[in-house]
Amino acid sequence: MTGQTEASTTRILPADAAGIAEAVAYLRAGEPVALPTETVYGLAADATNGEAVARIYEAKGRPSFNPLIAHVSGLSMARRLVRVPPAALDLMARFWPGPLTLVLPLKADAGIASLVTAGLSTLAVRCPDHPVPQSVIAALGRPIAAPSANASGRISPTRAAHVQESLGGRIPLILDGGPCRAGVESTIVAVDDDGRVTLLRPGAIPAEQLGVPVEGRDGDAINAPGQLASHYAPAQPVRLNAVTAEPHEFHIGFGAVTGDISLSPTGDLTEAAARLFDTLHVAQTSGRAGIAVAPIPTHGLGAAINDRLKRAAAPRDAA
Ligand code: TXA
Ligand code: MG
Repeated sequence: MTGQTEASTTRILPADAAGIAEAVAYLRAGEPVALPTETVYGLAADATNGEAVARIYEAKGRPSFNPLIAHVSGLSMARRLVRVPPAALDLMARFWPGPLTLVLPLKADAGIASLVTAGLSTLAVRCPDHPVPQSVIAALGRPIAAPSANASGRISPTRAAHVQESLGGRIPLILDGGPCRAGVESTIVAVDDDGRVTLLRPGAIPAEQLGVPVEGRDGDAINAPGQLASHYAPAQPVRLNAVTAEPHEFHIGFGAVTGDISLSPTGDLTEAAARLFDTLHVAQTSGRAGIAVAPIPTHGLGAAINDRLKRAAAPRDAA
């Protein structure tokens, strides 16, 4: 692999014009680079270059059946890749740019590497609301495939330092754009030609804010393939709905439950989402043998937070 020697040291550069130019040069050369988005840091590669995309899977150690999201500059780039039924167009008009990913029928002449879709006939497209990926996509002139920039199954990164911890030595460059605003991944919906909208992953936009009927995924078999039971897993066992903690546990609080550290002392779910992965990183490096997490309400962003926490707490052999 061409990047082997370069990738042995990972540089972190500020996400300014010079950093972006450097990132684009790596992407053109088929190397993956990590960059900030409004949700979490992504590990980006040219979505039209199969080898470049393979290096994402390689760096992440990700199961190869997991399809990736193609990040686009806007509607016109999306239209070159997927068929956009009216119901999807309506959602794009209202939520793009922003943390809403749509799974749509792939066009035959899209030019997307098949590794991006893991062979599916659909493609996930998302238009990030962040100047760094927007500048990178514009300069490259192509969509970028970008999963979260963490080793497979580990906590999603919301800071450049998290990426360095997880992927340091495996990628050439991390663009540092500071902490991510949302702190939780995009909401993913599938939209079919009849306009039916199905929630595949709860995320930064609560499903009830989409303003259209959304079919749930509870009990359904059609979840996003990436929704493995044990995902987002810290190194230690995680116990949920813990109002109190055992002496060996690091306690993550919320609202009235103070804990060692709180996701939100005031019980604000947006604040809790933004701090979630950061807090799991702190808990993971606490040196304690276990992690206990206070009960989190299930409404609004609480759905995405509980989804991530359940995966963090799932038995590890379930992955
Ligand atoms: O906020 C985000 O979406 C972040 C940032 C970097 O943009 N990206 C992200 O990507 O979370 P990733 O790869 O960690 O998660 C993408 C999810 C996976 O669960 C994957 O299985 C699902 O999207 N997915 C991708 N393409 C799909 C498709 N064609 N059909 C169903 N699910 C798909
Ligand atoms: Mg991920």
